[in-house]
Amino acid sequence: MFYELAASTWGDEELAAIQRTLASGRLTMGDEVRSFEREFAGYFGMKHAVMVNSGSSANLVGVGALFYKKHNPLKRGDEAIVPAISWGTTYHPLQQYGLKLRIVDVELDSLNIDVSRLEEALTPNTKLLVAVSILGNPAALDVLSTFADRHGLYFIEDNCESMDAELNGRKTGTFGDLNTFSFFFSHHISTMEGGMVLTDNDELADLVRCLRAHGWTRDLSPESVLFEPRDEDFFEAYRFILPGYNVRPLELSGAVGREQLRKLPKMTEARRKNHTLFQGLFGQDKRFLIQRENGKSSSFSFTIILNPDMDIDRTRVFDTLKKADIGFRIITGGCILRHDVMRHFDYSVVGDTPNAFTAHDRGFFVGNQPFDLRPQIEKLHSVLTHSC
Ligand SMILES: Cc1ncc(COP(=O)(O)O)c(C=O)c1O
Repeated sequence: MFYELAASTWGDEELAAIQRTLASGRLTMGDEVRSFEREFAGYFGMKHAVMVNSGSSANLVGVGALFYKKHNPLKRGDEAIVPAISWGTTYHPLQQYGLKLRIVDVELDSLNIDVSRLEEALTPNTKLLVAVSILGNPAALDVLSTFADRHGLYFIEDNCESMDAELNGRKTGTFGDLNTFSFFFSHHISTMEGGMVLTDNDELADLVRCLRAHGWTRDLSPESVLFEPRDEDFFEAYRFILPGYNVRPLELSGAVGREQLRKLPKMTEARRKNHTLFQGLFGQDKRFLIQRENGKSSSFSFTIILNPDMDIDRTRVFDTLKKADIGFRIITGGCILRHDVMRHFDYSVVGDTPNAFTAHDRGFFVGNQPFDLRPQIEKLHSVLTHSC
């Protein structure tokens, strides 16, 4: 395809890391994963990084951890404020743990949650705020974290799409009590499948470690607040304290993650160069609403919403893109309210969500990658300006 949605960012270093790991004979979670966790936490200046097998699993064990806190745990029936646009597995753990969703519209320009609706979303039962920075563009994380603090809410940042973005000089994925990342193909770094939870909170880190691996104590230090070690090695080796999962990462993914992390700053720089070119070509054209950058985007991809005040047929635009061999897709997962899965949720909508519906019905994205895409972006521009 002339302009792909996603492309591999691996080179010889990642292949060598895989070879090295295969040769070691240790393929399940071990030293490579532990080193990657240490290096990842260091990169973001956070105390704990806990690797799992996907961003979805990071969200699952993150939400789960809040239900097992010693003090002030979440309970079934508590409410969580969420944006109307994100990926399905931002929401699914909330349903699985029995939370009620309060769904808030996004801004049509940034595509992130409209923080002017937060007060309206709040009820006496609100206990959790989930922030999502869409496609590399930081949400108003400063406003959101202040709001969460002021109202005593737990704050989760689903940063699966926005690794290495910054707001006021601070990396996204460091504002929350819990912060989640995805290393799926096409994301800012790729470990095949993979994800991470970042937190500064010792108890939450241990809860996540415990839920990640069977709910047992084996990956916890004897000083953990989660349990009192006993003097019986036979039973201690298989001691279950939480109803956990097995969402551990492979050692191979940890080894590749270390190589990818080293390349991340350069890859983000390359993405941002493409982004500047895209903004320059499309920014002033009223036919196309492109994402307004908040802070410093790590530019996962380029979003375009066909101006709803103009008579532009999206199906025709899609046909033109197909003919030009340009990949395109829905923005993130679109508006969650448009999905059948909502019949399984307990939720209410805060007012209405016209912007999320517009993004769903009139929007799409094309890929960004960490190398020069000038010919692709210029062709996209030429194709769209002639067909709209
Ligand atoms: C906002 C968001 N959360 C969670 C995920 C899930 O990540 P994964 O595909 O690694 O499970 C994604 C996937 O792209 C995402 O965009």
